[in-house]
Amino acid sequence: MTSSAHAPQDPAAAQGPDPSGDPAPADVPGADGPPRLTGLVFHGPIGEARAARWVDRLAPVLAAAPDGGRVLDIGCGWGELMLRLLAAAPPARGTGLDLNTEDLARGRANAAARGLSARADFVEADATKADHEPADVVLCLGASQALADNLAEALAALRARVRPGGRVLLGEGFWEREPTPAELAASWPDAAATDHTDLATLVDTAVAAGFRPVWVESADRTEWDDFESGYLADTELWLATHPNHPSAPATRDRLDTHRSAWLRGYRTILGIAYLTLVPSL
Ligand SMILES: C[S@@+](CC[C@H](N)C(=O)[O-])C[C@H]1O[C@@H](n2cnc3c(N)ncnc32)[C@H](O)[C@@H]1O
Repeated sequence: MTSSAHAPQDPAAAQGPDPSGDPAPADVPGADGPPRLTGLVFHGPIGEARAARWVDRLAPVLAAAPDGGRVLDIGCGWGELMLRLLAAAPPARGTGLDLNTEDLARGRANAAARGLSARADFVEADATKADHEPADVVLCLGASQALADNLAEALAALRARVRPGGRVLLGEGFWEREPTPAELAASWPDAAATDHTDLATLVDTAVAAGFRPVWVESADRTEWDDFESGYLADTELWLATHPNHPSAPATRDRLDTHRSAWLRGYRTILGIAYLTLVPSL
């Protein structure tokens, strides 16, 4: 396999709208519509133990920065890891960029609840256009498509955004093995073998962009199954109790389509690598 054409990092997103909806307003008459992603702590296959190791690994990088340290979270969603890093490394400050107003609001609310509002900014911005100061820790978890259409360009953008001696934590898809045509056809729309590379090629791409890989790891099956189940669970519970809601047919269709793509398509072929990268001088 050669270069990645940069498929969506979140296969769920490639199915179209979230299974919970994000439906057109007319599809949700009132506040009793399907919930959205309330069953997830992270918007990706990230377990608690792995997140704790990242905090242990990255907080000292912030603590060593003369200005207290800066975090930049590209495609932050609600920025759970950024908030945990800020909590572990005061007085570090963080900026999360995303386009999703609901997720950004969730991030701001979580920051307020943890006493971090003064050090955490959640900014509605297109990361391809946003021009931010380089940071000591740059997070890009499942969101490299927020920077560029292909991985090499996204890595170049990350390289430009990290301070010397800093770290980039990249969460990026790769093929666990060569996908079969049937598996591709059952996955996200237009899934292709060129959507990802294997893990070795992914790391080589990061090295070619001017990084050295400090740590290479990938999501395990439990993290994946927890993520996919958590992605669907709140909406499944809602559907079970609202079978006659006007949104129920479309919601049922979205859930069934997503579950089929996961279980028949990408469950055993798609990996997510987590690369802790240091910029080469
Ligand atoms: C799979 S989610 C990951 C969220 C977060 N990094 C996490 O791990 O919880 C990908 C995120 O990228 C965001 N995104 C996609 N394109 C973007 C862009 N051009 N600028 C900023 N954010 C973008 C989406 O809104 C979404 O929140």
